[in-house]
Amino acid sequence: MTDKAKILVTRRLLQPNEDRLQAEYDATLSSDDHIMSTDEVIAAADGMDALLICVTEPLNADAIARLPESVRAIMTLSVGLEHLDLDAAKARGIAVMSTPDVVTDPTVEIAMCLMLGAARRVTEGAGMMRAHEWDTWTPRMLVGTDVTGATLGIYGMGRIGRTLAKRARGFDMTIHYHNRSRLSFDLEAGASYYTSVEALLPASPFFAITAPSTPETQGFLNAERIALLPDGAIVVNTSRGNLIDDDALIDALKSGKVAAAGLDVFNGEPSNVRQEYLDLPNVFLTPHIGSAATKARVAMGDMLLDGLELFRADEPVPNRVV
Ligand code: DGY
Repeated sequence: MTDKAKILVTRRLLQPNEDRLQAEYDATLSSDDHIMSTDEVIAAADGMDALLICVTEPLNADAIARLPESVRAIMTLSVGLEHLDLDAAKARGIAVMSTPDVVTDPTVEIAMCLMLGAARRVTEGAGMMRAHEWDTWTPRMLVGTDVTGATLGIYGMGRIGRTLAKRARGFDMTIHYHNRSRLSFDLEAGASYYTSVEALLPASPFFAITAPSTPETQGFLNAERIALLPDGAIVVNTSRGNLIDDDALIDALKSGKVAAAGLDVFNGEPSNVRQEYLDLPNVFLTPHIGSAATKARVAMGDMLLDGLELFRADEPVPNRVV
């Protein structure tokens, strides 16, 4: 790489990140924030040392094979990695860096928000007010599910799952979890471990998905597994839409098997989210904003650029995944 790394930045970042990119790098910034097609990314990558992309610019094995020789690093502004073929990057000798840790707190804030919003029927309440339909107060109006003191099953006890458990304990929730491997006594912090998700589901009146999207987890919440949940369960997803079988969840939301869902991530996002999710009153939705908080977003950009500096200096990069 030359002294000032040439970086292609596919989307508009927060101002402090763009300022740093302009001051310290030979950066090509996005002017209009459009989602670049794979072909566009490959063409614009010509002569670049590094790419700074988002989940909106997936690079599969074919795309990575077609990247110009100059590209030595891909930085993704995400903790999720399912949009990148890591094996292909490794085969090409391209380093991949991501943004672990810094997204944890804001993502958990959204998970709590979704859990509370779904359980306490906020979609219906807000809709009623905005439609000027609130004309009385009655003890029977918008009675939801109690969160305080309830039991929360967490699928995936990585950084986000463990932090969700910690925040939920603030609501006196009892924590059950399933994870690929059991946590240490300290990290468990009193949570009960279930050896399979099938065992966890019946014990989860609140069920939060915080596992990464992998070939093993994709589509795991299907009709058979939803049937294992207690009747009237609340389902929350801040991971990726493809962990859920939409047909199955929509059926369960219609039947009341699942009382409500809080969803931040969707199959087909952003433009092909299932219409039923938008129409059902018992769905509380946010548009993939888990990490969309100022400090975290700036920290994500900084983490990638700090990682790039270390990479260029041939030093170990803590956030390098390949
Ligand atoms: C992440 O960090 O993976 C968020 O979903 C943003 O892409």
